[in-house]
Formats: sequence, structure tokens, C-alpha cells
Amino acid sequence: MPLVTTTEMFKKAYDGGYAIGAFNVNNMEIVQGITEAASELNSPVILQVSAGARKYAKHVYLMKLVEAAIADTAGIPIALHLDHGGDFEICKACIDGGFSSVMIDGSSKSFEENIALTKQVVEYAHAHGVVVEGELGKLAGIEDAVNVKAEDASYTNPAEVEEFVTRTGVDSLAIAIGTSHGAYKFKPGQKPQLRFDILEEVSRRLPGFPIVLHGASSVPQDLVKVINECGGAMPNAIGIPEEMLRQAAGMAVCKINIDSDIRVAMTAAIRKHMLENPSHFDPRQYLTPARAAVKSMVAHKISDVLGSAGKA
Ligand code: G3H
Ligand code: 13P
Ligand code: ZN
Repeated sequence: MPLVTTTEMFKKAYDGGYAIGAFNVNNMEIVQGITEAASELNSPVILQVSAGARKYAKHVYLMKLVEAAIADTAGIPIALHLDHGGDFEICKACIDGGFSSVMIDGSSKSFEENIALTKQVVEYAHAHGVVVEGELGKLAGIEDAVNVKAEDASYTNPAEVEEFVTRTGVDSLAIAIGTSHGAYKFKPGQKPQLRFDILEEVSRRLPGFPIVLHGASSVPQDLVKVINECGGAMPNAIGIPEEMLRQAAGMAVCKINIDSDIRVAMTAAIRKHMLENPSHFDPRQYLTPARAAVKSMVAHKISDVLGSAGKA
């Protein structure tokens, strides 16, 4: 099966009360770990590429890795998505370069500027058979290309969503309900909370419309412990409780973005391997457990959190 858009997978996910995992890819081991897990569990999956990933690995290498994964996994629906496209040019490059979905992230702009930019991307994307994710509201957190201080973050205003979706023509909408990017989502002692009331109000105003949750890693504490015990330093790394993600997946959320948990899984595996095998210097020796850690993390998400196993 060639790359697919997210249209069909979101419709089934919305109706079925589950969500599709959107996992960030940066290299071969990550692509293989994710797609092997999705394939074995017969789950649809979204592979997403950030501007930082395109800079690190180059567009053509990522494209070829995904093509290879499609050939190797025969049959499950796979979408290739641009994560946090910052301007029209990067969206156009990914549309022209074979992606089936792009995100235009105009969340740092004014409402009117966000609408104008998103509409421009939607017109180009739809003319090329590609779907578009927009964003309203600002998530906190730090990644290569996304850096929003907690005080600058703001929840999505449900009163704006109908106008945004109608005027832009977007196919899905990312909203801010208290998740954030990276591995430090809450302060120690702080009770993790998401604004499910906002999600409910958004879905009431946009019936049947797929909602996207960014910043949805759970930062498993057993893996943080391994990292910290094997020479790492990730004090107070805290994520979103999985129970909250299950709840969101049962509501209008059809796409759940996970990157940090893959990073944590790989780092824990590599640090443990290096500590236990100080003489190893062949990258295959430590990238083999790293790839296996990605696969088991993604399998866990699909089976126990997203509910997308068997839905391919
Ligand atoms: O939300 C951002 C993703 O986790 C990608 O992160 O920009 O460091 O590749 P990155
Ligand atoms: P995490 O940092 O929580 O994995 O979020 C990833 C993300 O939202 C990618 O767009
Ligand atoms: Zn994101």
C-alpha cells in the first residue's frame, strides 16, 4: 500500500473511539522500530518529520527510509506528515517532496495571520491531494524549532474554532489543553491536569471533526530511572499520565503526537548498554537494543494507550 492521507484513518478513529499515534522519525532505527510495531499489531500509523529532522537526516533520506518501511511492512496504512511546519515554503517542499500530510503551525501568530497562512497552505495542499493540520492555542515546551515559555502558553479558545476551521478549510486541528512539548511537562508535586472541558466544548462546536493532541509523551518513570542510574541527568522529568491520553483518545482526539517517549526509550537503552558493555564500540551493538526499545515503546502505546491495534 502506498502512503495514505489521514482522512480515512481519522474517520475510523473518531467513530471507533481510538486515536492514531503520530511518532517522530529522525533515523533508520526509529523508522524501523515504529513500523515493525505497527505492522505486527496491524495498526495504522503516522510517521512525522519535524524541520529539525529534515535538517538532521535530509528530506530524501527520510523519504527513502519511509518508502523502505512501506515495502517491508506490506499492508498497514502509513501517513507521512510534516510536524510543526513554520511557513508556507517548508509545507510546499514537503507536499512537492511526497508527504501525504502537513501541519502548518501558525499558533504563534495573530488569529487573522494564522488563518491567512493556514488557508494558503490548505489551498496548495488540497490541490496536490495532501491534507493539512492547523493549530489554535499555544503549547509550552522546548524542541529544536518550537520554543514557548510556560508564561506564553495559552489554552485554545473554543469560541474561535468554528471560524478557524471554516475559513481555512483545515482537515484536522491541534488544540492546547495543558499538554506541552518535551520531557518536563509538570513541576514535581504539581498535579498533572488537562482541560477536558475545552476538548469537550471544541468537539461540541465541531462535531465529527478530528482533533490533534501534541506534547503527549508520558515520560515513563522506570526509563527515567534507568537513564539517571546509568550516568544520565534527567531530574524531575514528568509526562502526561497515560490514563488521560486514553480518555482523550475516546473523545474527539484522533491523532496523538509522541516524540519524547521515543527519545527516552532509546537513551535508556543506549546508556544501559554502554554502562554494561564498556568495551563495545560498534554502533550496531548499542543501536540494536535502542531500536528494540523504540519498537516496544510504540507497541505499548498502540496496544495500551491509543487503542489502534487491529484497526489497519
Ligand atoms: O514538537 C516537536 C517534536 O518533538 C520535534 O522536535 O524539533 O526537536 O525535532 P524537534
Ligand atoms: P512530546 O514532546 O510530548 O513527545 O510531543 C511531541 C510532539 O508534540 C510532536 O509534535
Ligand atoms: Zn508538537
